[in-house]
Amino acid sequence: MHSLETMTILLLWLLVYHLSVLNPAQASKCLLQNEFEPGLMANGDFVIGGIFPLHYNQEMPDLNFTYKPGPVKCNGFDTRAFRWAITMKLAVEEINKRVDLLPNYTLGYKIFDSCAYPLTGQRSAVAVLNGPNELESPLCADAAPLLAVIGESGSAQSIVVSRILQPFGIPMISYFSSCACLSDRREFPTFFRVIPSDAYQVKAIAKLLRHFNWTWIGVIRGDHEYGRFALQGLLKELEGTGICVAYQKMIPLLYDRQKALEIIHVMSHSTARVVVVFSAEGELTPFLRDYMEQNVTGIQWIASEAWVTSSVFAGSEFDPFLGGTIGFGIRQGQIPRLKEYLTTVNPERYPTNPLVYELWGALYGCSPSWSNLSSHLPSCTGKETVRLQYSAYLNTSSPRISYNVYKAAYAIAYSLHNLIYCTPGKGPFSNSTCANAPHIYPWQLQQYLQEVSFTISGEKVNFDMKGDSIPSYDLINWQRGSAGNIEFINVGMFDGALESGQELVIKEEAIMWPGHQTEVLVSVCSNSCAPGFRKAVRRGQPLCCFDCVPCDSGKISNETDSLDCIACSEDYWSNADGTVCIPKVVEFLSHDAMGLTLTVIAVAGACLTLAVFSVFLYYKNTPVVRINNSELSFFILLSLTLCFLCALIFIGEPTSWSCMLRHTAFSITFSLCISCILGKTLVVLAAFTATRPGNNLMKWLGPTQQRIIIFCCTLIQVLICTVWLVASPPFPYRNTKYQQSKIILDCSVGSDLAFWCVLGYIGLLACVCFFLAFLARKLPGNFNEAKYITFSMIIFCAVWLAFVPAYVSSPGKFTTAVEIFAILASSFGLLLCLFTPKVYIILVKPEKNTKQHLMGKDK
Ligand code: TRP
Repeated sequence: MHSLETMTILLLWLLVYHLSVLNPAQASKCLLQNEFEPGLMANGDFVIGGIFPLHYNQEMPDLNFTYKPGPVKCNGFDTRAFRWAITMKLAVEEINKRVDLLPNYTLGYKIFDSCAYPLTGQRSAVAVLNGPNELESPLCADAAPLLAVIGESGSAQSIVVSRILQPFGIPMISYFSSCACLSDRREFPTFFRVIPSDAYQVKAIAKLLRHFNWTWIGVIRGDHEYGRFALQGLLKELEGTGICVAYQKMIPLLYDRQKALEIIHVMSHSTARVVVVFSAEGELTPFLRDYMEQNVTGIQWIASEAWVTSSVFAGSEFDPFLGGTIGFGIRQGQIPRLKEYLTTVNPERYPTNPLVYELWGALYGCSPSWSNLSSHLPSCTGKETVRLQYSAYLNTSSPRISYNVYKAAYAIAYSLHNLIYCTPGKGPFSNSTCANAPHIYPWQLQQYLQEVSFTISGEKVNFDMKGDSIPSYDLINWQRGSAGNIEFINVGMFDGALESGQELVIKEEAIMWPGHQTEVLVSVCSNSCAPGFRKAVRRGQPLCCFDCVPCDSGKISNETDSLDCIACSEDYWSNADGTVCIPKVVEFLSHDAMGLTLTVIAVAGACLTLAVFSVFLYYKNTPVVRINNSELSFFILLSLTLCFLCALIFIGEPTSWSCMLRHTAFSITFSLCISCILGKTLVVLAAFTATRPGNNLMKWLGPTQQRIIIFCCTLIQVLICTVWLVASPPFPYRNTKYQQSKIILDCSVGSDLAFWCVLGYIGLLACVCFFLAFLARKLPGNFNEAKYITFSMIIFCAVWLAFVPAYVSSPGKFTTAVEIFAILASSFGLLLCLFTPKVYIILVKPEKNTKQHLMGKDK
C-alpha cells in the first residue's frame, strides 16, 4: 500500500515538475502530460470533483510507446451512472440557487469518467486535481480551490482515488463504495461515504439465510475488493450459524466465457440452490447472459446491493431466470425535480458534450443530425422512442444511488457553509480559530465534514468516526411486472442500528419466489434430523452435511437437528421412537397368566394333598395306612400341603416380608417334609431288619425317637434360617442391570452362602433319604414303601438338579417362576410317588388292603 502511495505522489510530482526539472527553460510553467477532459464542468468559487463510471469498461490501452498515448477509450455507455452525474450537477445548481446555503459563494464542479476501472479512476483523480487545461491548473496557482471529491462508485476505484487524494488532505465522499475495508481510518483517513458498509450487508444476508433456513449456499463474486471483502465478511458472519458454503466462485476480471461456463456447471450440479452474488452489472451482464443460455433454472439468487436495483436486468427476457431474486438495496430517497432536470439534457442544449451524444445514442439508437461527431448510428428523425434497456436514465421513481450523490453534494455544501460562517473565536482549529474563507484548505473542510449533520427530505445525514453512514437497507424482491418486465418490490427492511434480533423485518407474504413457486425453496445439504435421531457429521464434509443416526436405546433426542442423544435417568427408558424418556416397566411375577397358572397349580396341589389326607384319615385303620407308622404319613401330607402353599408367597410384588418369608418358609417346610420321609425310610429299614434275630433296631426307633429325629433335622434348617435372617436377610431389590429397559423387582437372597446352605441342606437330607431308601428297596413284601421313596427321591433330586442351571440362567421374573416350578414339581413328585400306590389300593383295590397281602404272605 505504501509503495502505491509513494508511487502516486511521485506520479503527481512528475506531472507537475517533470518538465521544470528536465527542461530548465520551462521551469516556471506547468505542462500536462496527458489530456483528460472532464465530462461536465462548471466554475465556481469552490470546486468539487466528481468521479463516475460513465462507461462499463475500457479498451486495453495501446502498449506501444513509440508515440504519445492517446486518450482513454471507453465502451458501453452507462446511462445509470450518467444520471448520477447529472444528479450531482443538479444538486450543485440547486445549492447555488439557495439563499440560505452558501449565499455569497458559488460551487463549481468537475466530473470525470472512470470507466469503472481502477486505473482510469486513478487518472480521473489526478485530473480532478488539475484544471481543465494547463493554464488553469490549480496546483500551479497558489491555492487549491478543489475542496472535495464525490466518488467513486466501485470500491476498487475508490481505494485508488482515496490514496491519491489523501496526501493532499482532500476529503472524498463515495456514493456507492461499500467495501468494509474502506472503514479503516488509518488507511483511508479522508474517506467518507453515504452508503452503509458491507459489514452490515453481510450481517443482513446471514440473517436472511437463517430466516429462510437456507443452510447450504453457493457464493459468486467479482474479482475486485468489493467481492473479496464481502465474501470474507459473509464467511465470517456465517461461522457458527450452521450455514455452510457449498462453493465460492469468482467471475474473472477480464470476462472469460469458458470460466463462466465452468461456474454455471458447478451451480447447476450443486445441491445448493441459493446463490449469493457480490458483483456488479459490469461483469454480471455477460455472465447472466451465458447463464440464461444454459437454461438453468430453480436458483434462488441473492443479490448484493450493487446489482439488486440495476435496471439492466429488468427486461422480460430475464424474468424466468432472475424473477424471485432477493437482496438488500440501498434505501431510496426523494430528489424533487430530478425527472424534469434529466429531460432537459439533450444534444441541442449541450452541443459540445460528447457524453450527451452518447446518451442519445444509447437512449434512442440514433445520433442527432446536426452533430459533427463521427458516429456509426443513423441520424435521428425525432420520432424515436426510448430504448427499454437504457431507460435506467429516466427511471427516477426510486432514486437510490442518485439520492446518495445528492446527499453527498449537500453534505459538502453544508460543511462548507458551516466552515465559512464559523463564529470567530469559536472555531475548531488551534486556539479556537476559524478557517480563513475563501482561502480554505481541504483538510479544514474535512474537519467540518466529520461534524456535519443536516436533514434532507426528512432523513438525517451525518458520518460516524469511520466516515460511514447509517446502516439501513431495503429488502428488494424481483417480481414480474404487468409488462412482463421485472419490478423491484420492497418486501422488508434491515436496520443495523436496531438491537440484534429486531434489525430484519420481512413481509414474507409479499415475496415472489423463483419460478412463481408458492413455497420457499429448500437449500440444504442434508435434511434435518427428526427427534429420535442425532446428527452424525460426514467425514471430510462441511458441518451441514450429515447423516441422521437413531438414538441408542435408553437415549433420546426430543428436538429436530439434535447433535447428541441424552441418556435417560436411571428409572427411565427411551420409548420406541427415542423421543421421550418413559418410566421403566417394573417387572415381577404377578397375577398375570403365568402367575395365575402357577397359583392354580399350587392350590390344586394343596387340595389334592388334603384330599389324600382325608382319604387316609377316613381309612386310618386299614393296613395300608397303618403300615409303617401312619403318623408319619400324616406329617408328610401336612408338610406337603405347606410346601404347595409356600409357592404362593413367591407370587406377587416382593416386599421385605414376603422376601424373608419366601426362602425360609420354603426351606423349612421342605426340610420338614424330607425329614419325615427320612424318618419313614428309617422305620421301613428298621422294621425289616427287626425280623432278623439279634438285631432289634425297632426298639431304638420308637415313635418318640422318630419325632426327635424329625424335629432335629428340621431344627437344623430352622437354625440356618434364623442365622440367615439375622445376619443378612433377603430383601426386595430393583434389578436394573439385567435388562436395561426394565426394572425387575426381585428378592435378593441377602447372603448367597446362606441361600445355597439352605438348599444344600435340603439336598443333603434328600440324598441321605435316597441312600437309605435305596438300601431298603429290595426288602421283601408286596408293598415295599422303600421302593417308592427311592423313586420319589430320584424325582426330587432330578427336579432340584435341573433347577440350579435354570435358576441361574433365567431372566427377570422367570427366575421366580422357575423356583415356583421346582417347588411344585418336587412336591407333586413326592405326593404322587409316595401316595398314589396307597390311595390306589385303598380306593380301587380294597381287597388288597389286607395285612397278608401287604406282607406278601397271601400267596
Ligand atoms: N458496492 C459496490 C462497491 O463498493 C458497488 C459497485 C459499483 C461495484 N461499481 C462496481 C462493485 C463495480 C463491483 C464492480 O464496489
